[in-house]
Amino acid sequence: MSFIVAIDGPSGTGKGTITELIAKKFNFQYLDTGATYRCVTLKMIKENIKMDETEKIKEMLKNIKIEFDGEKVFLDGEDVSKKIREADVTSMVSQVSHLQEVRTAMVELQRRMSEGKEVILDGRDIGTNVFPNAEVKIYLDASSEERAKRRFKQNKEKGIDIPFEEVKKNIEFRDENDKNAKIGPLKQAEDAIYIDTTNLSIKQVEAKVTKIIKKKKKLVEKIEKAYVMTKETKWKIFRRKFTKGFLGLLYKIVYRPKMNGLENLPKDEGYIICANHMNYLDAAGLILCNKFPIRFIAKADLYRFGILSYLGHLFNIIPVKRDTGDINSVKLCLKALKNKEVLGIFPEGTRKGLEKNAKVKNGAVFLAEKAKVKIIPVGIHGTFKPFTKVTFNYGKPVDVSEFKKEGSDWLDKASTKVMNDIVMLTKKED
Ligand code: DC
Repeated sequence: MSFIVAIDGPSGTGKGTITELIAKKFNFQYLDTGATYRCVTLKMIKENIKMDETEKIKEMLKNIKIEFDGEKVFLDGEDVSKKIREADVTSMVSQVSHLQEVRTAMVELQRRMSEGKEVILDGRDIGTNVFPNAEVKIYLDASSEERAKRRFKQNKEKGIDIPFEEVKKNIEFRDENDKNAKIGPLKQAEDAIYIDTTNLSIKQVEAKVTKIIKKKKKLVEKIEKAYVMTKETKWKIFRRKFTKGFLGLLYKIVYRPKMNGLENLPKDEGYIICANHMNYLDAAGLILCNKFPIRFIAKADLYRFGILSYLGHLFNIIPVKRDTGDINSVKLCLKALKNKEVLGIFPEGTRKGLEKNAKVKNGAVFLAEKAKVKIIPVGIHGTFKPFTKVTFNYGKPVDVSEFKKEGSDWLDKASTKVMNDIVMLTKKED
C-alpha cells in the first residue's frame, strides 16, 4: 500500500530527527530529500562544476547515483553521510537546490524512490510539489534562534565543528534563499498541519505527529475497504431492497420525480448514465426511483462518514480518488460494465450544476470506450425544493467509439457531446 507522509519546514526545526523516529515507529521508509541535494552539491564540488555550467550539471545529473541504507547516504557507491554535512556543502546547497535542472532531477528521483511504498520524506517542497496528494502533510517550524541552537548541538554530536554565530547566520541565509526561491520555494501546503516546535521537546512533537498519522492511517484503511465490495449476501440484498423502498417512498412524496425516455435504455447490456449534478439528491433520485440498480461512482471520501459509508457499501458505490489516476477504481468500473451493470457518473465532477465553462471530465467516455458500452445522457430538471417536481430526462444512447476518428482530442469532443446532450435534456420540464 502506498502511504506518503510529507514533513516540510525550514532547517533546524527537528524535521530530520522526527522523521527518523516516526519512520522507525511505523516502519516507514525514510527519505531525507535534503541529503539528495547535498549529494548533488558534493558532486559539483568534487568535479569542480560551477553554478552556471548548466550543460556540465545536466551531464553530471545523468550519471549520479544516490542511495540510502538506513541512516547512511551513498553517492556513486561511496558513504558520504558525514561529508554532505560539512561546511563547504552546507554553505552551497541552498543555491544548488534551486537550479532548475537539479530540482527536476531530484524531484523525479524522490518520486521514483517512494513509488507504491509507505514512505516518510522530509524537505521543503514535499507537500507542495513532490507529493501534492500525500496522505499526511506536516509543516514544522521554530524560531531561527532555537533552530540555530539545535543545529549547533547536532553538529557537535556528529563531530562537526562550526561556531554558533556561523550556524545561525547560515540558517538565516538559507531561510531567505529557500523561502524566496523562484524554483521550489519553501512554502506551507494549504492542507498541511502547522506545528511550531520552538517550545516543544522532540517527544512532544513526536507524539503530535504520531497522533496525526494514526488518525489518517485509520481513515485510509477505511477508504481502502471501500474498494473491496462487500459480499452480495441475502441479508445485504434484503437491507438494500428495504432501504430503497423506504427512502424511495420518502423521495417520491417530497419530490414527485418523473422519469422520461426510459425506452432509450439499452437492454441486456452494461451502460453508463451521465447526468448533471446539482446536489446529492440527484444521485439519490436516480438510485432510489428506478427499478433497475445503478452503481454510482463517488469520491472515496464519502466512505469517511458513518451513514454515507454504510449506504456506499449497501448500494455498491464505487470509490474514486480524484486527480490521482485511480487504477483500482477504473478496474472496478470495467468489471461492473463487463458484468452488464449500470454505472452512474457525473461528468462535471463536483456539484457545480451546469456552471458556465465547467470543464467536463473525460472519465465516462474513457470507461465507455474501454468497456465498449454506450453512454446515456440524463438531464435533471428541478430545484429540489421540497414538494416540487423533479424530472429525469433520459436521452438517446451515445456511441463514443464514433468519435475516435476525430483526432487526438476525441475524448474531449465525445465528452462535450455527452455534456451538450445533458444540457439539452435539462430543458425538458415534463
Ligand atoms: O534539510 P537540509 O538542511 O539537509 O537541506 C539542504 C538544502 O536543500 C536546504 O538548503 C534546502 C534544500 N532542500 C530543498 O530545496 N528541497 C527539499 N525537498 C529538501 C532540501
